[in-house]
Amino acid sequence: MQTFTDSYDKAYLLETMMGPNAMRVTEEMTSYLPMKEGMRILDLGCGMGISSILLAEKYGATVFAADLWVSPSENFDRFKRLGLAQNIIPVSVDITKGLPFAHGYFDMIVSVDAYNYFGCNDTMLPYLVQFLKKGGHMAVAVCGVKEDFPKDRIPKDMQPYLELDMGFHPLSWWRRLWSKEPHFCLQHCREMDCLRQSWDEWLESPNPYAQRDIPMMEAEGGKYFSLIQITGQKAL
Ligand SMILES: C[S@@+](CC[C@H](N)C(=O)[O-])C[C@H]1O[C@@H](n2cnc3c(N)ncnc32)[C@H](O)[C@@H]1O
Repeated sequence: MQTFTDSYDKAYLLETMMGPNAMRVTEEMTSYLPMKEGMRILDLGCGMGISSILLAEKYGATVFAADLWVSPSENFDRFKRLGLAQNIIPVSVDITKGLPFAHGYFDMIVSVDAYNYFGCNDTMLPYLVQFLKKGGHMAVAVCGVKEDFPKDRIPKDMQPYLELDMGFHPLSWWRRLWSKEPHFCLQHCREMDCLRQSWDEWLESPNPYAQRDIPMMEAEGGKYFSLIQITGQKAL
């Protein structure tokens, strides 16, 4: 079956990716979520916003596209050119310093390939859950590893590319972290089907970081990396 992502302008996606194809990753993740027209979503660490574009165009959501490295002015230009200025609101956020929103404001918080930069701790999930309505959903897709590296050492073939503090954890680690949160029900913690395809698409991108990742993925050869989806619901 052809997905929304399959039918999207591929050249545009290649120019705006900042990692494994975030539109494809978001589309798979949202197939596990109760999406509704007009819902209010925070897209945290949206980068150049291709996850936000999917949420607005495919589901008719109102999206707050929040990012640290990419300026809201740059993203606003992009959303305007796509006719989405009314649907996607770009904001500058450093989540380690807090969010400028009311508690109970969002139906959903989505974060694609960004949560490991700030969320590998006991405090981020309970902090973010405050901004969800009762019954609202958290949905994170994050690069991780299939298993912890033996004795916490990076395997030799990956040593030129990885460091231990990159927040790459296995699924069991994320399940444990998110299961601790009271008043929050973990619903899915799974390896995503689009792991290989979303990485292959990223490696086709002209982004210099994608070109740099090509030898890393050759060395990885399907042995170590995972793409982990973690979704859950705030208690009603
Ligand atoms: C690898 S990029 C992924 C961007 C986008 N989600 C995508 O997949 O194309 C990681 C993103 O996380 C964002 N990020 C990192 N630390 C952050 C923080 N403290 N607050 C908000 N965003 C952050 C960066 O600005 C960056 O755009």
